[in-house]
Amino acid sequence: MARIHLGHIFHLAGSPLVSEAVHALVSIPEGALVVEDDGKIAFCGDRAGVPLKYRATPVTDHRPGFLLPGFVDTHVHFPQTFAGDSYNGGQLLEWLNHCIYPAEARFADRNFARRAAVEFCDRRIASGTTAAMVFGSPFPDAQDTLFAETARRGLRIVSGRGIQTVGPQAAKPLMTSEDDAIRLAREEINKWHAADTGNVKTARLHVALVPRFAIAVTAQTLKRLGELYDSVRDRGVYFHTHLNENDRPDTGEVDQTKQIYQVDSYLDTYDGKFLPGSKIGGPSMLGRRSVMAHAVHCQDAELQRMSETGTSIAHCPVSQQFLGSGTMPWLRTVASGVNIAAGTDFGGGDEWPIPQVLATAFKVHISEPGDAGVSMHPAEMLFIGTLGGARALDMEDRFGNFAVGKEADFVVIDPNRTPALKAVITDGVRSDDPAMARDQTLFALLMRARETSIAGTYVQGRKL
Ligand code: GUN
Ligand code: ZN
Repeated sequence: MARIHLGHIFHLAGSPLVSEAVHALVSIPEGALVVEDDGKIAFCGDRAGVPLKYRATPVTDHRPGFLLPGFVDTHVHFPQTFAGDSYNGGQLLEWLNHCIYPAEARFADRNFARRAAVEFCDRRIASGTTAAMVFGSPFPDAQDTLFAETARRGLRIVSGRGIQTVGPQAAKPLMTSEDDAIRLAREEINKWHAADTGNVKTARLHVALVPRFAIAVTAQTLKRLGELYDSVRDRGVYFHTHLNENDRPDTGEVDQTKQIYQVDSYLDTYDGKFLPGSKIGGPSMLGRRSVMAHAVHCQDAELQRMSETGTSIAHCPVSQQFLGSGTMPWLRTVASGVNIAAGTDFGGGDEWPIPQVLATAFKVHISEPGDAGVSMHPAEMLFIGTLGGARALDMEDRFGNFAVGKEADFVVIDPNRTPALKAVITDGVRSDDPAMARDQTLFALLMRARETSIAGTYVQGRKL
């Protein structure tokens, strides 16, 4: 049955770039969102303007709540569900060795993985994360529980088993032979890609090829993954991995990648140019369904290449602070034209809600040195958490804002559920200039919203 939802609506209209988000920001204090029987948006506007034919349609009054498009987390680790705030000293590669590989190895136990899948979906729903690109477990049984639980709960997911064919001793339980890596990835695609509806255009379940990072595989694996990806691109399969995260000299991830592959740039390893001297060795895996996590330390040529191929960046500032990975240069990255979306990177990040990622993005970018320091506009924050995420998942035609005809993915944020949010919403100073007052309210909302503030998470109009 159709339903009218009332609340203060914020979303980004049209299909702006992040640099255009401020002009696309829509705020409707007395807003109404009409969702048709089929879960699609029939009307978004002032409640006084709801078409007469919806006169008798049932109403859910969320006021004084806010209605925002569902949050999109473009990088989060399922097998790290229980590994947030893991302590053992060191940055990325030490943390992987001491904390993460052992934590992920526990997913070989199907029952443990099932518990994690329930918790993972609980955290997503509690945080208002309707869609996510999920770095998966290498164990097929664990991935089965993840996809099954996600389907049962009604969430959207793109995920693939984390692929490792080489690595340190601690990663051995997560590694397979090259043949098995390719076979298991193909089997996962055949089993789960669009398994819910049988059609990628209507599915909520999608599969990605997910090598952990270049140094967790070999040139031969990259070649065979590229060939596999080429053979499934037209089925709408995704590609997801890590890029340019830790630049500690010599022993860090970026230098290790360049030393092992002898390439000019880290991105080359995913772009088919993984042979010494960045010579072509296989097909590229970049494209509009490819998402690179982090991209903190990119060369201009790498940003340019991602931009021209339609590849997106999953920007994960909470994780970058937790692991001491540095700060993605905001202005330089935006200037390249590459699409930027938000990611929690949980458990490298230690916060589940996307608003916490947006708040951290604001803080790190205003703190960049010299002329690079910038005060992000709240519309840009909203962009990377919603519409930019839908674009990264190549599903902007389905969700990401409240355009009529899109699927009704939205989140209800109720300030009354969180006293500290209520305080900044109801008693914060607002400008006499209506546009600035609007921006101030959205800013306070995104900075201060917590899990406790989320009153409802809806996918295709259905409350989860
Ligand atoms: N690089 C390779 N694996 C990982 C991981 O699990 N987390 C993060 N943050 N970076 C990685
Ligand atoms: Zn990650």
